[in-house]
Amino acid sequence: MWLTAIMDDLEYERFADIYSVWTATAASTRANKPFYVEAYLSADGPVVELGVGDGRIAVEAAVRGRSVIGVDLSPAMLQLCRDRATRAGVLDRLTLLRGDFRSFELDEPAALIALPYHSLGHLTSLSAKRDALCHIHTQLRPGGRFMFDDFVMTPARLEHMRRVQLRAEYVSPDGHDTLLWVTSLIDEPAQTMRVVTWEDELDADGAMIRRRYRMLSLSWMTPAQAAGLLADAGFTVEACFGRFDRTAFEADTADEQIWIARKDTAT
Ligand SMILES: C[S@@+](CC[C@H](N)C(=O)[O-])C[C@H]1O[C@@H](n2cnc3c(N)ncnc32)[C@H](O)[C@@H]1O
Repeated sequence: MWLTAIMDDLEYERFADIYSVWTATAASTRANKPFYVEAYLSADGPVVELGVGDGRIAVEAAVRGRSVIGVDLSPAMLQLCRDRATRAGVLDRLTLLRGDFRSFELDEPAALIALPYHSLGHLTSLSAKRDALCHIHTQLRPGGRFMFDDFVMTPARLEHMRRVQLRAEYVSPDGHDTLLWVTSLIDEPAQTMRVVTWEDELDADGAMIRRRYRMLSLSWMTPAQAAGLLADAGFTVEACFGRFDRTAFEADTADEQIWIARKDTAT
């Protein structure tokens, strides 16, 4: 049973202030960023990033000349994105909308909708993911593409995620040496997990003066489930990669499942 007191729809409101440390120390962020930026730059029409977060990807695309519509549920994450775009001098290339993957509304249909960095997994049931994919399909123009990535969950990865890991050491905004720890509580049959992080702030003697916990709800799909949901939503799969270098998906060797799907012109 998960802790309910700190579980709600706005987990990222609490997570926002450690998000940059989180992504800077994640295994897949170095590879997924250039993959998505290149896709945004080569799209021939409106580009939308769902779960735009702090703009790690969208602002890079904007710096390289591409306008991006960013959608996110979390006001704190949208503010981080706005701040990053302002610092980069490209705020005018971003349109930021507060909305849910399952109900956002665009002024015009998109050429590309991307949902990077395992973020569809924040919807933790298959039916919620199906609702999101069906809604995304309605927001694309005929011939438009939807791309997203998900974990490839293996016994080794589950074991790794269950371990308590020291993720980062950094200096907190109020000047304290800080250790960021992470582990995950995993419900394998449900294909869900609670990522639990905690930061220990230390005094000059190394004694802990404050510990703060944060939690994120995540989930994963098997490749067969992902293919099934895409088909249910009316998409045609164009490609499934196993790595961000565009290696074709092979179940035994894939690091990720990266899907590119098209809304057919006749639908
Ligand atoms: C893992 S972060 C990804 C941020 C960014 N795309 C990146 O790659 O760094 C997931 C983001 O999705 C947002 N999010 C989670 N569930 C959402 C939902 N149902 N609708 C819209 N945004 C959501 C969170 O607020 C968070 O900013």
